[in-house]
Amino acid sequence: MSTLIDSPITAVIVGAGHRALLYASYAQTHPDELRIVGVADPRRHRREQAAHLYNLPPERCFATAEELAAHPKFADVVINGTMDHQHVPTSLPLLRAGYDMLLEKPFATSEEEMWTLVETASRYRRRVMICHVLRYTPFYAAIRQRVQQGLIGDILNIQTVEHVSYHHMAVAFIRGKWARQAESHSSMLMAKCCHDLDLIAWMKSGILPRAVASFGSNFQFRPEKAPQGAGSRCLVDCPIEPECLYSARKHYIDHPERWRFYVWESLEQMEAPTLEDKIASLKGDNPYGRCVWKCNMDVVDHQSVLIEFMDGATATHNMIGGAARPSRSIHLLGTLGEIQGVFEESRFVIRHIDPRPGHEYSEEVVDLRINGDMHGAFAGHGGGDARLVADFVRVMRGEPPSLSTTTLQDSVVGHLIGFAADRAMAERQTVDLSYAVARLPQP
Ligand SMILES: NC(=O)c1ccc[n+]([C@@H]2O[C@H](COP(=O)([O-])OP(=O)(O)OC[C@H]3O[C@@H](n4cnc5c(N)ncnc54)[C@H](O)[C@@H]3O)[C@@H](O)[C@H]2O)c1
Repeated sequence: MSTLIDSPITAVIVGAGHRALLYASYAQTHPDELRIVGVADPRRHRREQAAHLYNLPPERCFATAEELAAHPKFADVVINGTMDHQHVPTSLPLLRAGYDMLLEKPFATSEEEMWTLVETASRYRRRVMICHVLRYTPFYAAIRQRVQQGLIGDILNIQTVEHVSYHHMAVAFIRGKWARQAESHSSMLMAKCCHDLDLIAWMKSGILPRAVASFGSNFQFRPEKAPQGAGSRCLVDCPIEPECLYSARKHYIDHPERWRFYVWESLEQMEAPTLEDKIASLKGDNPYGRCVWKCNMDVVDHQSVLIEFMDGATATHNMIGGAARPSRSIHLLGTLGEIQGVFEESRFVIRHIDPRPGHEYSEEVVDLRINGDMHGAFAGHGGGDARLVADFVRVMRGEPPSLSTTTLQDSVVGHLIGFAADRAMAERQTVDLSYAVARLPQP
């Protein structure tokens, strides 16, 4: 464990997959701030890869989080990048063992699990920061700053929209790890948009949600919607593959780098898979070679959420999968003005009423591409990934939290809205959140 205030904090990677290794790579660029001193992952190949990257001795490499927790504590924190349904079961023993934690989202797959985590962290006085990376992007942080400064007054309505691109939809929610709630235990709303629900809760900080309604369905990716003559595997038995917008060849062979950590996971033990290896894999049992209309997914492809807050303000979030262009947008309307922007454009406008003769409103454009660092080497999620780890390190070193710091208590509100929305959609009714208010962090 680190002892000096300015020595790097020491971390164990738990779940050495795509996300945890990405966060851990901060230790390579900032060795004075973060040092990786151990790993836990049941997959030997991944364990060995992490051990090699960070020069870890065998006695600091564990098969599971549970095994790590049973060992005397030897680091300051863990970076928990396991899959959604493993977050709580892997975190509980580690919190009891005394580790603080950076934990991926969604941090729980049910409301009960969520409260168990919150109560355990509180009982053992452990700090848990959730990877709500969008809070750390210059775009959303700058908007939050304007809201906090009171520039648009009291917010009476928030509209957020996420358009999930056709290739992201296919790779994650049709062919991929989040296609079946029975397996991932997360709904598409929680897996994809717990970020947006967190942003809504953040923008309304201090005002709790009162009720939630929601509608959604799988509109498109069902067998009866398949184009006539479609086969079951794109590269095996599909005569319409050359015309198909969702052809696995077009998505994964013609774009070999796009989503490679998902699509080629079954080849990850090969040093350098060739094009032939990849084609053979898509022709074989690689799940990413399946027809998108015949994947037996059980999540929605679009969902709308309507939220009422305690002060009477409202918010909507619309998630639509299968869009041509990926896009996240936000529009906040306050008593003194409004803020509107599109995340991918890194630009938003602030408008104020201007009743003077010849005027209607004034407009200030905030363009974050000027002086921005959106395209640096560590630019995941618009710069949010790197800033999140930097903030985590700062907070763990005892420095004051930033505007964006996402404590577990903060993150509960957005997750609660998401769980309520899924229940509202399934039961076709409005969910009244008053039952949960006593358990929520009080403003
Ligand atoms: N913050 C974001 O914007 C963002 C983006 C993408 C994914 N995610 C989330 O990141 C998480 C990880 O996704 P990924 O694609 O990196 O997953 P992954 O499947 O690549 O990695 C998870 C790893 O956990 C390991 N594991 C399983 N059980 C374990 C145990 N008991 N102890 C230790 N390790 C164990 C697995 O072997 C695997 O290597 C998911 O929850 C996902 O929803 C977040």
